Amino acid sequence: MNLKLRGQVFPILAGFKILPELLKFVKKKKYSKVYLLSDENLKEARKKIARLFEKSKIEFFEIPVRAGESLKDIESVYPIYGELLKNKADRDSVILALGGGSIGDTAGFIASTYLRGIEWIGIPTTLLAQVDSSVGGKTGVNHSAGKNLIGTFHQPSLVICDTQFLATLGPREIASGIGEISKYGITYDPKFFQFLDENLNALLKINSKVTSNAIERSLKFKIKAVESDEYDRKGVREVLNFGHTFGHALETITHYETYQHGEAVIWGMRFATELSVVRGHLPEKAAKKIREFLARIPTPPLPADLSSALVFQTMKKDKKASQNKVRFVLLKNIGKTVSDREVTETDLENAFQRMKR
Ligand SMILES: NC(=O)c1ccc[n+]([C@@H]2O[C@H](COP(=O)([O-])OP(=O)(O)OC[C@H]3O[C@@H](n4cnc5c(N)ncnc54)[C@H](O)[C@@H]3O)[C@@H](O)[C@H]2O)c1
Ligand SMILES: [Zn+2]
Repeated sequence: MNLKLRGQVFPILAGFKILPELLKFVKKKKYSKVYLLSDENLKEARKKIARLFEKSKIEFFEIPVRAGESLKDIESVYPIYGELLKNKADRDSVILALGGGSIGDTAGFIASTYLRGIEWIGIPTTLLAQVDSSVGGKTGVNHSAGKNLIGTFHQPSLVICDTQFLATLGPREIASGIGEISKYGITYDPKFFQFLDENLNALLKINSKVTSNAIERSLKFKIKAVESDEYDRKGVREVLNFGHTFGHALETITHYETYQHGEAVIWGMRFATELSVVRGHLPEKAAKKIREFLARIPTPPLPADLSSALVFQTMKKDKKASQNKVRFVLLKNIGKTVSDREVTETDLENAFQRMKR
């Protein structure tokens, strides 16, 4: 698959054991040096990549970074620039981001700012990163005031989604990825939704055929949205935020400690589904299908003391809220969305109560 933007082509490859494509690409592009960013959970994958480069004459450096979301703290970025400088990365060097969305977002941000911008390649290893975060060029780090507040758009020159890496994922990382995959089915395509509904058990166990199919179909939706709205200004990419307004609020309230991103999005999609009914957009029959499907994906429960007031207050602070009004992506049906700016506090409260039932 290819992402085509501004007359440029950014290949996005998905498949099982396709790493050799990485070496081919690096050789073709004649990068001067290669810098691999990855964390300790990816030792095996890292070895595979190191072996790949061993025989080539390309200069190859490994930069170990910390695992998980804390890598995106803006403070943890500074020493990584230091490593690049120490190892003489230049404008013809390339950064490889091997890992989940945290590494992708951070490495992409570093690549876009180091020496005013060098190229980078995404090698996503979580399901979530393979179907969502690795594509689209949104890079970013977190400020203590909030997540992803500092960032750039910088497309990876290549993305390689090798499904061999998914074998070591835990059940929660898998559920989290399925959350984002479901988003594409629910918002864009009833047939894909049905496929996910029928194959959910296989997906939860990472069945290679079903999972590969779901990844490829998800990538196509993501590519299409990014191609029509690279900088997320036309409202096309807004659909990809389905479930995210509530999801982000839940993540913020629980300090990113309770939920994986996709798990929070699953809660957010439950909320958005109920809100769609409350606002009179979505027929109950379709809501029931979505509700029952989402309930089959294991997620941590909502905090027992979660107050709707706190959630709504947090949602308003989200960077997507403009003029203090939260714009919601809601559903008219499975596969059909509507943007709603007129949601009232009472609507929110009603949806919240329905979701908790
Ligand atoms: N840029 C975007 O468009 C975009 C979109 C969605 C999400 N995101 C960002 O992505 C981040 C979440 O990414 P994530 O869900 O991939 O989590 P993550 O990157 O934080 O990784 C979660 C954990 O999984 C481990 N891990 C990674 N690959 C593994 C593997 N193959 N086997 C075993 N363990 C593995 C990591 O070491 C880490 O501890 C968030 O910061 C979110 O904001 C960005
Ligand atoms: Zn998301």
